Amino acid sequence: MTARTDLAAHLASLALPQALSQTLTAAAAACVEIRKIVSGGALVGALGASGVVNVQDEEQKKLDVISNDVLTDMLLACPAVAGVASEEMDTVQPATNPTGEYLVLFDPLDGSSNIDINAPVGTIVSVLKAPSATPTEADFLQSGRHQVAALYAVYGGQTMLVLTTGQGVAGFTLSHDGQWLMTHERITVPADTKEFAINMSNQRHWAESVQRYIDGCLQGADGPRGKNFNMRWVAAMVADVHRILMRGGVFLYPWDKREPNKPGKLRLMYEGNPMAFLIEQAGGKATTDGKQAILDVTPTELHQRIPVALGSANEVDQIAAA
Ligand code: F6P
Repeated sequence: MTARTDLAAHLASLALPQALSQTLTAAAAACVEIRKIVSGGALVGALGASGVVNVQDEEQKKLDVISNDVLTDMLLACPAVAGVASEEMDTVQPATNPTGEYLVLFDPLDGSSNIDINAPVGTIVSVLKAPSATPTEADFLQSGRHQVAALYAVYGGQTMLVLTTGQGVAGFTLSHDGQWLMTHERITVPADTKEFAINMSNQRHWAESVQRYIDGCLQGADGPRGKNFNMRWVAAMVADVHRILMRGGVFLYPWDKREPNKPGKLRLMYEGNPMAFLIEQAGGKATTDGKQAILDVTPTELHQRIPVALGSANEVDQIAAA
């Protein structure tokens, strides 16, 4: 069998600052630990609710809490990390070591509603340069363009880690002996697609332009688009984005009328920015509405939400034009 490049060799080949490689290595190692607990499921008492409501007003699952603790502990133990922020924590946690250079933001277990039904879930990570070794919350509020790395791990049929440091996108598969081995050297998103992902049950609440765009897709070959579309919805952004990175498509979680003051469901710092960085690096587009790039949004709060429309570039343009 051909010898494969492992994550350490890949990071070395990118000539990254040593502290960034250490940070990414710690994040990837935490994903291996989370995978073990996810795959143990009911056998390790990991399923069900934790009984706690998080800062997002969502009931945390036990696995949300466990995954958050694993990432927080392993990252703060890494001398290169200056602080962490998580979808599951109210505020940022600065590291106690004085050598930290990077801020790590994460959604420890994305797609929580999939946990108890053994459907795919994942971990999403964004890395920023720390302005100081004793960071405050304001230091984390950098736009997505400032990210120096983004990755996710998807815990599905295979466990995969997909990474960018701004030099393209590479994919690794977790081997039986716990190594991340490169299986996808340069991931690119095809510009055209016939597949969309959106929670159709919210259709009547969307803005008119989103209704028009989806309606055009649903009319298929008989409508304005002149081609038939397929629809997929895994209900875990990490798995829906993974499919788009593997074969193209668009993913939308738009603003809707029910709560007009709430910009969307997904979180800018933990979901929008890291996924946008990966999608852009793979040649796709990642926007709030087909037009505004997510990476250019200036964050005003740590747990800020945004609408999302990302994926195959020409199809994102169709969303903008609808
Ligand atoms: O983090 C929020 C999230 O779980 C995403 O991963 C996913 O895309 C979405 O919510 C699912 O939303 P819904 O419950 O509307 O299907």
